[in-house]
Amino acid sequence: MAELEGLEFGKSDFVLLDEVTMEEFLANLKLRFEKGRIYTYIGEVVVSVNPYRGTELYGRDVIEQYRGRELYERPPHLYAVADAAYKAMKRRAKDTCIVISGESGAGKTEASKYIMQYIAAITNPSQRAEVERVKDVLLKSNCVLEAFGNAKTSRNDNSSRFGKYMDINFDFKGDPTGGHIHNYLLEKSRILQQQPGERNFHSFYQLLLGASDTLLNSLRLTRDAAAYRYTQESAGTSSMNNDKSNYKAVADAMQVIGFSPEEVDSVHRILATILHLGNVHFVMPGEAVEVEDMALVSHVATLTATEPEKLLQALLYRTVAAGGGEVIAKGHSATEASYARDACAKAIYERLFCWIVGRINAVIEVQNYDPRLHGKNTVIGVLDIYGFEIFDRNSFEQFCINYCNEKLQQLFIELILRQEQDEYQREGIKWQHIEYFNNQIIVDLVEQPHKGIISLLDEACLTAGTVTDALFLNSMDSRLGRHPHYTSRKLCPTDKTLEFGRDFRIRHYAGDVTYSVEGFIDKNKDTLFQDFKRLLYNSADPVVRAMWLDGEASITEVTKRPLTAATFFKNSIVALVENLASKEPYYVRCIKPNDHKSPMDFDEERCRHQVAYLGLLENVRVRRAGFASRQPYGRFLLRYKMTCEYTWPNHLMATDQEATQALVDQHGLQGEVAYGRSKLFIRTPRTLVALEKQRAQLVPIIVLLLQKAWRGALARRRCRQLRAIYTIMDHYRRHKVRAYLRELCRRFQGVRTMPDYGRSVTWPPPPAVLARFQDHSQQLFRRWRARQIVKNIPPSDMAQIKAKVAAMGALHGLRPDWGCQRSWARDYLSSEVENPTLALQFARRVQALRDKVHFGFVLFSCHVRKINRCNKSRDRAILLTDQHLYKLEPRKQYRVMRSLPLSTVTGVSVTNRQDQLVVFHTCSHNDLVVCFHKMQPAGDNRVGELVGVLADHCKATRRELEVRVSDCIQISLRGKKRLVAVQTRPDAAVPDFGKSRNGFVLYWPQS
Ligand SMILES: Nc1ncnc2c1ncn2[C@@H]1O[C@H](COP(=O)(O)OP(=O)(O)OP(=O)(O)O)[C@@H](O)[C@H]1O
Ligand SMILES: [Mg+2]
Repeated sequence: MAELEGLEFGKSDFVLLDEVTMEEFLANLKLRFEKGRIYTYIGEVVVSVNPYRGTELYGRDVIEQYRGRELYERPPHLYAVADAAYKAMKRRAKDTCIVISGESGAGKTEASKYIMQYIAAITNPSQRAEVERVKDVLLKSNCVLEAFGNAKTSRNDNSSRFGKYMDINFDFKGDPTGGHIHNYLLEKSRILQQQPGERNFHSFYQLLLGASDTLLNSLRLTRDAAAYRYTQESAGTSSMNNDKSNYKAVADAMQVIGFSPEEVDSVHRILATILHLGNVHFVMPGEAVEVEDMALVSHVATLTATEPEKLLQALLYRTVAAGGGEVIAKGHSATEASYARDACAKAIYERLFCWIVGRINAVIEVQNYDPRLHGKNTVIGVLDIYGFEIFDRNSFEQFCINYCNEKLQQLFIELILRQEQDEYQREGIKWQHIEYFNNQIIVDLVEQPHKGIISLLDEACLTAGTVTDALFLNSMDSRLGRHPHYTSRKLCPTDKTLEFGRDFRIRHYAGDVTYSVEGFIDKNKDTLFQDFKRLLYNSADPVVRAMWLDGEASITEVTKRPLTAATFFKNSIVALVENLASKEPYYVRCIKPNDHKSPMDFDEERCRHQVAYLGLLENVRVRRAGFASRQPYGRFLLRYKMTCEYTWPNHLMATDQEATQALVDQHGLQGEVAYGRSKLFIRTPRTLVALEKQRAQLVPIIVLLLQKAWRGALARRRCRQLRAIYTIMDHYRRHKVRAYLRELCRRFQGVRTMPDYGRSVTWPPPPAVLARFQDHSQQLFRRWRARQIVKNIPPSDMAQIKAKVAAMGALHGLRPDWGCQRSWARDYLSSEVENPTLALQFARRVQALRDKVHFGFVLFSCHVRKINRCNKSRDRAILLTDQHLYKLEPRKQYRVMRSLPLSTVTGVSVTNRQDQLVVFHTCSHNDLVVCFHKMQPAGDNRVGELVGVLADHCKATRRELEVRVSDCIQISLRGKKRLVAVQTRPDAAVPDFGKSRNGFVLYWPQS
């Protein structure tokens, strides 16, 4: 029951009609048709009216709206039924089938294609290649089958001239794994002849109009349907079909399906063979029949890869077993030869068609299916079979087609009534019988053993001697004369619409059809001489050969009589109906709104007729009998629980049935419903409409509530996620810190015992959070290392170290070499090595000074060269004690020549080179300029030592000492400013001073 659109579009379910009358039914159907609502339900049956125009009803968006929805949740549609069938198959592992019925041109084939598209669109979300392939082949197969099995008729430009039942197999996940196409009775007589305004099968025109010139030349065809007898009648017939573009589409489809290029070539050759064969004429100039144009025979032989002589033999003679293993060739008459040729052409086309179906099946057949691995293999069947037909001239094919429709109607009645009846019984509800027309009587008229028309036809065909169609009509008249659904001119002489001796009429469920009996016997026998079968079996073309495997039998072999065409058809239809009955059926009932393919015209009479014979009114009545609607308690509550306080949001009663009862009671609907075992039965649609209205009012409020809850849930979820993120971040950071510290410990574990105390150990890269920590740690580590190193220095070396540190502070980076690597002896003049002859004199002088001024210790002593007042270089010595700087005369027992209290020395200047120049700046602006000299070894570098010793001493006595380093030193001599520069002299043996323009130059011997 679908009630989703406004009533201006009519009622979307005929069950909701106020009164079930033909008039109301038609009025609703018409209104919906005019409003573009071509689908309407009767319960779960879809009634579809052919719109004869493109609509917006299909496509990806619409498919999404129906996907996974219940039937009643969306406006009626084929997609909803397809979804219901799919769901039943998937949820309950039930085989289902969708039976599409209706007369020719009502839209069955189109419906079947939309259903297939829907199933293809909603399956295989994981895009598995194999499943995609199966779906592709299933979809593309329509195009190929339509080319070879459809034709323009007076009813439909694209009329299916064969029946099709397609099984789609699914795995337990609901994805298609394969399929199988069953084809039924191709109307092959169309090959030979078409009624006015009709055409042969599309494939011929597609080949003639669409193939390239080269291909046509190779097939020896011209691009003109009028040139071939089988297509000439229809050559002028216009068609909506675009044969040229369809040719391309079919070629592409065949390629996708997996036809090899050789196979496609063979198919073209077979079509050309038929066209050429039709043009073969037989003449009888003398005693024997001859072929008029032998060139045609050779074309056909080439195209079928057979030998021309054997082909000619098969066309003109037939081989007959003469008994005792003997065979003789019996010549045809011209008529017999033409008949045999036509039979051959028909058979070739039929076998081609069956071969194509077989090839498609081979490609989509389910492979390697193991139910233990893949679960139950379920099936959805889609039946698109030719619709009920009434032409001006109805022959054997229409008889078969209409019989088939009788059987399907029978199935419809049986299933719809049986289901309904079963349901009431199952649910323990009293069932009221509905009158409907049961067409079983017509089915019996056709198929009953011994008495039915098919039996009589077979009987006539088996009778020895020449049996004519007229004799067969006679036998029907005498045996079926009393049947209420059979008549003929003989039985009803006043009826001028029946031709005497030719016509008989069956009153079908869908209307009276007058059949011409002409050709019944022939078509039923469907004779094809063994000679053709053998000929084609021996073809060198493997595709042709594969179609004629029965041609292998020897002529003398006694074979079982083959089934007649009618019996074969009956058997296949009986099997089909049994197959359908074993599945859960879904119905699409197609209605043709008018006979001239107009999108505007709703021909009431034509529609009335169809509604009547399709039994749609009965369908509605049966559906409404007693109870228009039924729903499982759970589903009913789910839909309407918001309308009752006891059931919203969830009931607390013991069972859903009790809750339903509470809801029904609250609405005061007790008299309107009945309680089944698992379902609630609602008597009138009005009740449901009232419930729906209430529900519709409440839904917006619920939607708001749900939105609120949902938004809250979303926010909570986001919050939870954020929390989780922070926890993870936190743990991760901890982990990083721990890992860093562990690594640090590992690397620095043994540093105490390392000779360099871990100087060579590289620090692991710290996490961002520990960057400052690492800086501090490194500082601490450096201090610790320094401590370790300093701790190991002997106290005697400490003074030297301190001096070196002080020198480094003053000179590092300013003077390249300042003698750091040496051991600093300080008092060089007391050393026997440096001063072997005068060390003793120097020691006496030091002692004398110590006695006199009581200094503490000697800081430095060394021989120097200096410049005197008269600008002459003189050799002197300097002695630096903790109190004074002395200039001494070495040649006079180191007599003191100048004494400067250390407090008057304000700074020292040195150069930034290798030389040993030192300037002592004094506060009296009378600087002392000296250059160390006579050192052992000669190249000793004592500038750093002097600076270090003096700076360290000043630091200890908290005095300022300025140390300057430059390449040109400024001095004050008795208050005058002078400059001292240094020049290297390779030829000088000892350092010496000279005068310069603005002061002095020290000539330094190059080392
Ligand atoms: N749903 C639809 N939308 C648009 N056009 C449609 C629709 N259904 C059918 N038609 C039109 O009607 C024509 C006939 O439809 P279709 O071939 O499906 O009829 P059929 O019932 O299969 O007839 P037959 O029994 O002769 O095979 C289509 O070619 C198409 O032009
Ligand atoms: Mg069709």
